[in-house]
Amino acid sequence: MIRLLNHPPSPVQELHAPLFAEKGIRLLVKRDDLLSLSENGGFCGNKWRKMKYNLLEARLRGQNRLLTFGGAFSNHISAVAEAGQSFGFETIGVIRGEAPASPSPTLQQAAARGMHLHYTSRSEFQRKNNPDWIAALLEQYGDCYVLPEGGTNRLALDGCRDMVEEVFEQCAGNLPHYYCVACGTGGTLAGIITGLNNTAKAIGFSVLKGGFMRDAVIQLLLDYGVAPSDNWEIQEQYHFGGYAKTTPELFVFMKTFYREYGIPLDQVYTAKLFYGLFDLIRNGYFAPGSSIMVIHTGGLQGNSKKF
Ligand SMILES: Cc1ncc(COP(=O)(O)O)c(C=O)c1O
Repeated sequence: MIRLLNHPPSPVQELHAPLFAEKGIRLLVKRDDLLSLSENGGFCGNKWRKMKYNLLEARLRGQNRLLTFGGAFSNHISAVAEAGQSFGFETIGVIRGEAPASPSPTLQQAAARGMHLHYTSRSEFQRKNNPDWIAALLEQYGDCYVLPEGGTNRLALDGCRDMVEEVFEQCAGNLPHYYCVACGTGGTLAGIITGLNNTAKAIGFSVLKGGFMRDAVIQLLLDYGVAPSDNWEIQEQYHFGGYAKTTPELFVFMKTFYREYGIPLDQVYTAKLFYGLFDLIRNGYFAPGSSIMVIHTGGLQGNSKKF
């Protein structure tokens, strides 16, 4: 656990391109994808941030078993399995859908890391936040520290808030004007907003279709006890058809980005984030002189996905 708490800050890397010079902006990447205990591991990025205080809390409560929820390709399931193995927790993953004949690479790896997979019908999975169902699961598996799907809770927001403090120290005297991050549940963005204290604007890029992300983030801020301010917004037009949907154009973007900068992206979250951000830059969204911090939240374990 000390390894987790005392880990050095993730690096900040500046990207250079004629487009940025032309628009007079600076683009910095907070490489949270490099926060990892193992190479190509699932426990990195925003999962690291979101689980850090939860793992500590579980340990303080004397719990040695984690139970959580997710789909067959979930980065969160992968992260919980890896964190459990690294820090000595048993792990139970409640998985959306019946047991498949051939499990996804994410689930195979989670099982290999010792996670017990509890498959459940898609309709039952909808009850993932229902206290009666959670109580029934705990009855079956014994006392567990329960993490919600996607890992977003109050302690997760605290962990994401730490990331902003790291940036304050790393960029002291030259703080970014914008923070950009991909949104699934909105928890990472909400944590960033709580840390900003209106010193900069946060932009969340929703990877889901439906236009509900803004309300989700407002609810998370209210639950956290913070009055929603106006120093943040959601970009809704870069979901590429919805969660885990992709297009050939997105793959071309990922490949080109990797060739230019040597930074791998994942097709579910970070590729959509950078694609959207580059589009905003091209369209003159950011005033000359702006400095933008993009958060690379990891998710690379999912690159072996077959959709
Ligand atoms: C790699 C990656 N980036 C971003 C997100 C979005 O984070 P949040 O759910 O906190 O919005 C997730 C997932 O949940 C993720 O796995």
